[in-house]
Amino acid sequence: MTSEQIRKLFFEFFKERGHAIAPSSPLIPDDPSVLLTTAGMQQFKRYFTGELNPINDFGSQRTTSIQKCFRTSDIEEVGDETHLTFFEMMGNFSFGPVGTDDPKDRGVGGYFKRSAIYWGYEFITGVLGVDPKRITASIFKGDTEVPRDEISYRIWNEELGLPEGRIMESDRKDNFWGPTGNEGPCGPTSEIYVDGVEVWNLVFNEYYQHADKRLEKLESPGVDTGMGFERLVAVMQGARNVFETDLLRPVTDRVYELAPGLSERAARIFTDHVRAAVFLVADWVRPSNKGAGYILRRHIRRMLAYKIKEDVHVDLLPELVEMVGKKYGGIYPGVSRSEEIIAVLEDERSRFEKAVGQGILELESYKEKGKKIDGQIAFHLYETFGLPFELIKELVPKELAKDLSKEEFEGEFVKHQEVSRAGQERKFGGHGLILDTGELKAGNPEELQKVTRLHTATHLLHQALRDVLGMTVGQMGSDITVERTRFDFSFPRKLTPEEVRGVEEIVNKKIKEDLPVSYTEMLKGEAEKTGALHFFKLKYPEKVKVYFVGKSFDAAYSKEFCGGPHVTHTGEIGKFRVAKEEAVAAGVRRIRGVVE
Ligand code: GLY
Repeated sequence: MTSEQIRKLFFEFFKERGHAIAPSSPLIPDDPSVLLTTAGMQQFKRYFTGELNPINDFGSQRTTSIQKCFRTSDIEEVGDETHLTFFEMMGNFSFGPVGTDDPKDRGVGGYFKRSAIYWGYEFITGVLGVDPKRITASIFKGDTEVPRDEISYRIWNEELGLPEGRIMESDRKDNFWGPTGNEGPCGPTSEIYVDGVEVWNLVFNEYYQHADKRLEKLESPGVDTGMGFERLVAVMQGARNVFETDLLRPVTDRVYELAPGLSERAARIFTDHVRAAVFLVADWVRPSNKGAGYILRRHIRRMLAYKIKEDVHVDLLPELVEMVGKKYGGIYPGVSRSEEIIAVLEDERSRFEKAVGQGILELESYKEKGKKIDGQIAFHLYETFGLPFELIKELVPKELAKDLSKEEFEGEFVKHQEVSRAGQERKFGGHGLILDTGELKAGNPEELQKVTRLHTATHLLHQALRDVLGMTVGQMGSDITVERTRFDFSFPRKLTPEEVRGVEEIVNKKIKEDLPVSYTEMLKGEAEKTGALHFFKLKYPEKVKVYFVGKSFDAAYSKEFCGGPHVTHTGEIGKFRVAKEEAVAAGVRRIRGVVE
């Protein structure tokens, strides 16, 4: 069975059962506490909590998706048999009040454990044809806070006939999932295994975990399932590991053709990392030293490091990028922008090579002198030549790397950031532009007044977009000049004229109300808990200012991490108008707004 057949069968199965097919959200999520999308449920968080109504948006309480995901906690393990950083995750979801929970119900109402388990079992055994004898399952065994999942146990055992010995019971670590990020829906899980390999994780979102770890019962329980696509394909194709599937095998084979003699580990690193890099660049991530940009940089540089380490002279990347584009372009059109993606990788390569040239010389001179490389030297090499920690570690002989600790390196990193922030503030204290925050620029007092009005309008716009379009809206960028504000945000499609008008109306209503604008300072962690909006791409200091529009912080219409400046009352803004709404990228829209 090919991976494409499996993809199709999955969607058909859940469509027949009343699910709306939701497109994958971008890899950059609308959740500032996570850098990249790590699970299919992330784009649906606000449907689980009841903040948004799925019927309005999907026409069904049931959705299904195959989500682009990224998990970097194991990046150093990539190269073994099982780890991937980028992967796709299949899932089916139920939000809102539970209906019949009868697996025969083909309607659009909410469902729970019975339907989720029956359908999971039916898809694997009935549709994919896996012999039921190969199946085992697991359930949550209960602890002091959350009771044992008796219902799932009974469904597996009494209704589906799985014998007691084939139902495992486990604790929080293995049979409880979520939340993603700081807080969110979570709950006990029941997993489905084929030949002992876990393929499907059915999560029963009965709780909301707050940032202080407190569990609160959700008003309506939800279903969130996740099945790693590559792993399922491996099981179905009898492959020994994910690199032997029809998804990755062609890439790995080509790597070996281009660079015969490469170690298996390096070939796998190339295969995983090139695919991951293509997907990141396609979702508008660019190499940098921060956030998602740093993850991309690490992927590219790790491949380049292995090229040096294993003495590969051909340039593998352009061809591999094109291969990935062809393979996935039909499903994710962005990845077919091979020329642009190659250009990004090439640019990073030339930076890296320049850096490596000098950095490696310096590293060599240390090595010759027998100098031990510690975190401080590693940071110096990183800061001066851009050599990433991981690469330094891979290039330094073990006997010189005994004192090389990631913690010390990171400690140096943090120290450096503090110093550079202080420098930044001093720099803008002087002449030329009277204001340059990066986001706002003004050359004289009149301009300052104008950009300040536009700035507060931008906060109102951000919140209004979320009111009208929902949780997928997250800030992707913002730039304010005297003429206009330009706000980029994640959203999958063009806005309708009604939506644009709705957004304008909300902003103008808040302006008419002449609400006070003020700020409060608080610790970053606390500020995050208040739900204040912030720009995930920025690294904020420990203590942040949160600007809010409204009579009090708790009753504020908009709350946002921000350094200002802002008007004192929204009435000062004048009339706000959306001048243009357009696409900047797949999944990213841009609004230009003006004040009059
Ligand atoms: N959200 C379910 C999972 O990632 O397994």
